[in-house]
Amino acid sequence: MMTASGGAAAVTVVDHPLVQHKLTMMRDRDRSTKGFRELLNEIGMLLAYEVTRDLPLEAISIETPLQRMEGRQIAGKKLVLAPILRAGVGFLDGMLSLMPSARVAHIGLYRDPDTLQAVEYYFKSPSDLADRTVLVLDPMLATANSAVAAVERLKSRGAKDLRFVCLLAAPEGIARFQQAHPDVPVWTAAIDERLNDHGYIVPGLGDAGDRMYGTR
Ligand code: URA
Repeated sequence: MMTASGGAAAVTVVDHPLVQHKLTMMRDRDRSTKGFRELLNEIGMLLAYEVTRDLPLEAISIETPLQRMEGRQIAGKKLVLAPILRAGVGFLDGMLSLMPSARVAHIGLYRDPDTLQAVEYYFKSPSDLADRTVLVLDPMLATANSAVAAVERLKSRGAKDLRFVCLLAAPEGIARFQQAHPDVPVWTAAIDERLNDHGYIVPGLGDAGDRMYGTR
């Protein structure tokens, strides 16, 4: 795992062999919709494992079949998973399978194809965001317009402890996100070369939402 930061919160590239192998399978243009979706879920699980690595633990007294002992459990309130619709939902099942009690906030943003700006059409979250760690989910950190807008909206509703999780990031997206939200660390499976003129990550994997849902 590689972590870099320079003033802003860290960007962690999860370079685990399983993640890299699955990501390469996803990039392949011939991967089926079913295969793409399954792989996104699986990588979601692996990223969830890394992004929750430093969650605080507290002692809890339990009884094994042999004796009483002090175990450890995650302290505090449950996490919030906040997928940006629609591609962010691709991470949700995998992450919920590891964190079944997490709350879910849905953030409906789409990218205007002409301006590339994020337009909100839906927002629904738990009311106690201020007391929870919020994992904002979107597979592609491209222009970062959606990511920046989603985090702004979550902060305006009280969220203070946020982490951004993606599959692929463009250097331009990371720079813009860190400029807007220097307090929010980022986890990604890879940082690609660049954005093209249409706001796609190169070499990337194409449109994540279309590939997940077969809407190409
Ligand atoms: N969104 C996508 O789905 N793919 C990209 O390459 C950029 C943004």
